[in-house]
Amino acid sequence: MGYKVAVIGATGNVGREMLNILAEREFPADEVIPLASRRSIGVEVSYGDHTLKCRDLENFDFKGIDFALMSAGSAISKEWSPRIGSAGCVVIDNSSCWRYDPDVPLIVPEVNADAIAGFTKKNIIANPNCSTAQLVVVLKPLHDAAKIKRVVVSTYQSVSGAGKEAMDELWNQTKGIFVTQPPEPDKFTKQIAFNVIPHIDVFLDDGSTKEEWKMMVETKKILDPKIQVVATCVRVPVFVGHAEAINVEFEGSITTDEARQALRDSLGIVVLDERDDGGYVTPKEATGEDAVFVSRIREDPTVENGLSMWVVSDNLRKGAALNTVQIAESLIDGYLQRKAA
Ligand SMILES: NC(=O)c1ccc[n+]([C@@H]2O[C@H](COP(=O)([O-])OP(=O)(O)OC[C@H]3O[C@@H](n4cnc5c(N)ncnc54)[C@H](OP(=O)(O)O)[C@@H]3O)[C@@H](O)[C@H]2O)c1
Repeated sequence: MGYKVAVIGATGNVGREMLNILAEREFPADEVIPLASRRSIGVEVSYGDHTLKCRDLENFDFKGIDFALMSAGSAISKEWSPRIGSAGCVVIDNSSCWRYDPDVPLIVPEVNADAIAGFTKKNIIANPNCSTAQLVVVLKPLHDAAKIKRVVVSTYQSVSGAGKEAMDELWNQTKGIFVTQPPEPDKFTKQIAFNVIPHIDVFLDDGSTKEEWKMMVETKKILDPKIQVVATCVRVPVFVGHAEAINVEFEGSITTDEARQALRDSLGIVVLDERDDGGYVTPKEATGEDAVFVSRIREDPTVENGLSMWVVSDNLRKGAALNTVQIAESLIDGYLQRKAA
């Protein structure tokens, strides 16, 4: 018997990718129901070879639905996730609404699949921020090998991380500049075309941004509360794919070869690290891929045990939709099948 899966935010960047990934991975679904706002009633979305018509979240009854894969923002999640959870449906949410709730597991299956067990308290499981997801996938095997003390990370985040309207803004500004039409920032605080913006989410009292705070807090919750993380998050004029320059300081010693091997032996990671022209991965090549790619692994000579590296992944896939579907798969493997047996 298959599962009934509702995809909430099915017309958005992440929702559409969730539908693709459910079909690609042949998720054991008997029924997939795309939901969005009233504006999208009847809008057609693709699910493998099928075309499905969107329904309205507000008038949908979740009784009998097994999974709600949610990507419609924090406000919608705050209102709807508890209601859906108490109807007996497991919510896997992409917004930041539940990530820091101690009764909600925050999961990247390659890193902390065991923590899923805590989902029964609220019937809600959270996905991390897209930048955190690719970071912790890479940190996990390195932490197991030589215990990480401190991480310094600078991100180069694509506009798709801010939703479909943000992608339109980059597209329209880029076209407009060629016909001398002045760019009008709307989703972004400054011109994004041919520019970079060191500001994602709101500013906090200490001068950091909420996006930078999320990377620190989420890494601690998923991987190890003792790891120190400092981030600088930057939006760049790239449509899809987030890149990160990472400096890792370890308690024990680890060579570049040992790190490369530990990464190669881990699920979900591809090491492409040739010290030659083009011997590294950029967001363009990572788009549409499931893996987290690691390149430019080298010693950091400024600390006793340190490595620097370049990490790239498709933010809509491992950073959001793929991770969501993997959580549902882990839940089926670990709990639901056992419960049914
Ligand atoms: N993009 C990423 O890389 C990424 C990564 C991790 C997490 N996330 C999170 O995932 C969520 C969605 O991101 P996105 O990039 O997919 O945004 P998006 O492209 O702007 O899509 C938003 C989706 O939410 C739906 N929605 C809005 N208001 C609604 C309502 N009242 N009722 C039901 N559905 C409603 C929209 O439906 P309509 O078309 O009907 O308005 C649309 O399907 C956000 O919380 C974001 O922070 C995104």
